[in-house]
Amino acid sequence: MSGTCIIGLQWGDEAKGKLVDLLTQKHDIVARFLGGANAGHTVVDGDNVYKLHHIPSGILRPEVMNVVTAGVVINPPVILEEIDGLKSRGIPVKNMLLSDRAHIIFPWHFAEDRAMNQSTNDGEDIGTTLRGIGPCYRDKVGRSFAIRLGDLVRPGLKEKIEMIVEVKNRTIQSLMNGGTFEPLDAQKIFEEYSVYADRLKEYVVDSTDYLLNAVDEGKSILFEGAQGALLDVDHGTYPFVTSSNSSGVGAAAGSGVPAKVADTLIGVIKAYSTRVGGGPFQTELFDETGEKIRKRGHEFGTTTGRPRRCGWFDAVAVRYTARLSGADVLSLMMLDVLSTFDELKICVAYDLNGERITHFPSHVDDLRNIKPIYETLPGWEEEITEVRSLEDLPQNARNYLDRISELVGKEIGVVSVGPDRKQTMFTGSLAHFSDVNP
Ligand code: IMP
Repeated sequence: MSGTCIIGLQWGDEAKGKLVDLLTQKHDIVARFLGGANAGHTVVDGDNVYKLHHIPSGILRPEVMNVVTAGVVINPPVILEEIDGLKSRGIPVKNMLLSDRAHIIFPWHFAEDRAMNQSTNDGEDIGTTLRGIGPCYRDKVGRSFAIRLGDLVRPGLKEKIEMIVEVKNRTIQSLMNGGTFEPLDAQKIFEEYSVYADRLKEYVVDSTDYLLNAVDEGKSILFEGAQGALLDVDHGTYPFVTSSNSSGVGAAAGSGVPAKVADTLIGVIKAYSTRVGGGPFQTELFDETGEKIRKRGHEFGTTTGRPRRCGWFDAVAVRYTARLSGADVLSLMMLDVLSTFDELKICVAYDLNGERITHFPSHVDDLRNIKPIYETLPGWEEEITEVRSLEDLPQNARNYLDRISELVGKEIGVVSVGPDRKQTMFTGSLAHFSDVNP
């Protein structure tokens, strides 16, 4: 059995796409197992920058099959735009399969996301990506008003859409709290989605069966996470989370492949922390240091363009999510962003009502109350984007990596110093990946 699982251990945007893209050449299949168009993966190939939302990052390599599995929620016009965009740049998109079990996002999900984002979390918005993700997952679990990709390409779609639109028009209006809402038109939606169905049909398979057969045939699978473990609906900073299991625990559920198939789990972290949307963020910086991180790291959302909230690395949170996800090894990204800082801070514990704690609290009230306890390390002056071997990093950068590894309790097997494939160093138990072809 061989498989690798790549999971973000913070709040998403850990630059997982680049790592997945590099490691695809060591695998036969890339399987994306959760989320939808709320995620944005950036893959840089020389001067070419590809921004993908649904399509797994292995799409640039024709020999690798890219599978969008049952746990993903698909927005048809967005995935079609991705397909068209890739095709227009010479990527044929023949190596992709879409699960017939994946749920479909419809216009009513957008309307509900907009109506409910101003939620009741003590006045704080979840700050969703407004891509209809939560409402679609809610319908999936609720069952009665859900439409899967398998339904989209079969007879009976019209009747289903009519039944759902009738109910949704009533419920969304009642959610609007006096605001206006243009009722949805079932016929129009049916016509639009029939066109999408026609175009997507060629990709639709039973992906669970496909992947289980691939496992039997000894093929290797790269499981591509989306978002980050702190956004996990069960184990993250609830309710300020996404609506699926974005930590390592979600890979098996979303893909339909037993967890033990992935014999290596790589936890991806940034050298600092970022978060988009609402919710507690213990090490957030509101000063010029935070602004400098945002500027140097180009910390603006791939999907929504929102400025990301920036802060110091939180070793307590990452130690928790590394254990939760079953990380074997860490991949530390964007170390170059931290060059030119006089000093760097790492959160090593929290103060909760005067008590020093080293576990990650489960309740949002405690998450809001904790204050970070920092350790300060000296920074390094020089830029490191040209460094290609860990020995050539400034000593203070190496000390920073060692301290993170020690605090999280995991080895660091990848260090990235820039967006390009070439700016990646493999070491330790992942040294065997050093021969990946940039
Ligand atoms: P939703 O997934 O659109 O419902 O948004 C829920 C929360 O997850 C919001 O705080 C979003 O900003 C956050 N979120 C969703 N997808 C991503 C992502 O890919 N990266 C970072 N944050 C995300």
